Amino acid sequence: MAAIKVAVHGAQGKMGQEVINAVARSADLAVVGAVDKKPGAGFLTLPDGKGRVPYSGDLRAVLLESQPQVLVDFSVAEASIAAARAAASLGVNLVIGTTGLSQDNIREIETLCSQRQIGAVVAPNFALGAVVMIHLARTASKYFDYAEIVEMHHENKKDAPSGTAIATAQAMLEARGKPFQHPPTEKQTLAGTRGGEHGGIAIHSMRVRGLNAHQEIVFGDLGQTLTIRHDSINRESFMPGVLTAIREVVRRKGLVYGLDRLLGL
Ligand SMILES: NC(=O)c1ccc[n+]([C@@H]2O[C@H](COP(=O)([O-])OP(=O)(O)OC[C@H]3O[C@@H](n4cnc5c(N)ncnc54)[C@H](O)[C@@H]3O)[C@@H](O)[C@H]2O)c1
Repeated sequence: MAAIKVAVHGAQGKMGQEVINAVARSADLAVVGAVDKKPGAGFLTLPDGKGRVPYSGDLRAVLLESQPQVLVDFSVAEASIAAARAAASLGVNLVIGTTGLSQDNIREIETLCSQRQIGAVVAPNFALGAVVMIHLARTASKYFDYAEIVEMHHENKKDAPSGTAIATAQAMLEARGKPFQHPPTEKQTLAGTRGGEHGGIAIHSMRVRGLNAHQEIVFGDLGQTLTIRHDSINRESFMPGVLTAIREVVRRKGLVYGLDRLLGL
């Protein structure tokens, strides 16, 4: 079967480069074009001697020249929605990982899909393991009365707790339908040591050099605990999710929001 032709928007970025490598190394996929606002030469040399492809700041020109079936976008929100419009107008399917899209943006992408009869996968988190972790946590939440989350990230992460920790807690509460038990600590000799609390779930944030992105959910009840843990070692962790989305989006029409929905979780 012919390889699925992929163009990458945000190709100069950390995620864009990771996507180019992952797609180029997949036998059933091919990088045919690259776009970034600051491209170097007019072409991009692919890894493993796979030749070179058009590379420019002009998305429409690259799409017309390279004729991709899928545009993968990891850029910034404003650029992402402009790219979605341009790709949709040429009937190119979309895989969007850029974060910060508004609800209006998502609705517009959904409309573009039905107007242009294309498929789109938009996922703020392409880490397969993180999505499965949340799915498992949802299931466990029905059976345990106590749960705490420890999220661990590198020292430069700007926010706390992580978006994934909040999303996990939210999903756990929705699945359970009531708060978890959160026994009050009578004497806390160091403020904050019990973490933040959301629906009875204590959330603890560690920021340590050497870590990347990790999370543990510890469930407990009489005489037992159950721990679910996910470790993301580097940006490669997003690639199985992105590659799955590319393979799926050419077979569907319409918008799928979230890797969990794409996987049917
Ligand atoms: N969905 C996920 O799982 C996931 C994972 C990691 C990062 N992200 C998101 O992906 C996005 C990119 O992350 P990154 O770490 O690669 O950032 P980055 O800053 O390294 O890369 C962004 C790239 O987009 C390019 N760009 C900006 N404006 C552009 C424009 N108008 N036209 C073309 N290119 C433009 C920049 O030049 C840059 O090369 C961010 O929104 C980030 O939050 C999502």
